Amino acid sequence: MTCRHRAIIDTIPSYKQGKTAPVAPGLTSYKISSNENPYPPLPSVQKAIADNALGSINRYPDMRGWAVVERLAQEYGVKPENVILGCGSTEVITQLVSFVSGPGDEVVYPWRSFEAYPIIVAGAGATSVQVANRSDGGHDIDGVIAALNDRTRLVIVNNPNNPTSASLRDDEARRLMRAVPDDVTVLFDEAYFQFNDDPDASVAMRLFDEYPNIVVAHTFSKAYGLAGLRIGYAIAQPEVIEGMIKVALPFGVTHAAQTAALASLDAKDELMGRVGAIKAERERVVAALTEQGWNLGKPYANFFWLPLGERTDGAADRFASQGLSVRAFGGDGIRVSIGEPEANDRVIEVCAELMHDGFAK
Ligand SMILES: Cc1ncc(COP(=O)(O)O)c(C=O)c1O
Repeated sequence: MTCRHRAIIDTIPSYKQGKTAPVAPGLTSYKISSNENPYPPLPSVQKAIADNALGSINRYPDMRGWAVVERLAQEYGVKPENVILGCGSTEVITQLVSFVSGPGDEVVYPWRSFEAYPIIVAGAGATSVQVANRSDGGHDIDGVIAALNDRTRLVIVNNPNNPTSASLRDDEARRLMRAVPDDVTVLFDEAYFQFNDDPDASVAMRLFDEYPNIVVAHTFSKAYGLAGLRIGYAIAQPEVIEGMIKVALPFGVTHAAQTAALASLDAKDELMGRVGAIKAERERVVAALTEQGWNLGKPYANFFWLPLGERTDGAADRFASQGLSVRAFGGDGIRVSIGEPEANDRVIEVCAELMHDGFAK
């Protein structure tokens, strides 16, 4: 059967989920391919779900998620009308792209970046304009500015950037904002901002009051460890939020996810302690690799980037043979998530072998 459909969909690469941990005889396997939080859910979060959500799954959730929206509005010093939830930040990004762009419109973003962007943009019928990252994996803001034209409806900046783990400086973000016309939206996707310890880093909420065309996307998946429950949010001007609500997946954010998000906000200090431990592990791994002779850019998220070029697939096989699933982007490089300390130890061992065998040329 031939199904008549939108030809643009044929141009979209299917989203590839990070591989599950490969089986390696005699070794514990680890999945470090999806930038997940290696810590198990907090007991207080599990209890909140059991006490407040499990008993009501015969009911639809509050579609706007007001309790979480009001809480986030308080945290950020904005109005509830400035906040929208989504089924992960992937959904709020999708809402925004469908709200602002369609056929004939362009969405500009640095590349390589989050694999979902080209899929979401093509899904809306709009055109992606990808601006190659600098050779150090950083955002080419001049390139982004040069790509703006009358068709541009949205600019997406992922900070820190997945997969290169590069951080965008505040002065670069401001330069971008000065160059973008005020009727063109700029989305700062800050899925990993809690891991960014660059003192000069851009923090989009600090620009929010100055530039009404900014939208900020955050998620509970990474620092808050709720990836499996699917809840993220965006902060934007009320008229943008209203448009996003119209295209949102109805009832997409479950009551269990809303309950877990509230319990996680209550446990913020404990969760930020875990973020601190993950950052310390990141520094330990990077120091070991630097000692081995790797020349890595400094990572600012809960993952780091090995720019291996054409040696990528061979190196990914080496990781898999040691029970580690990493994220390989053929011909480009490998993204390695910071996982359990034992997983990180094994990453250090595999990287030593790769260095020895000439992969790091
Ligand atoms: C840059 C970036 N943005 C957004 C997301 C979406 O995460 P979620 O939909 O789980 O909130 C991810 C997930 O990996 C990501 O890497």
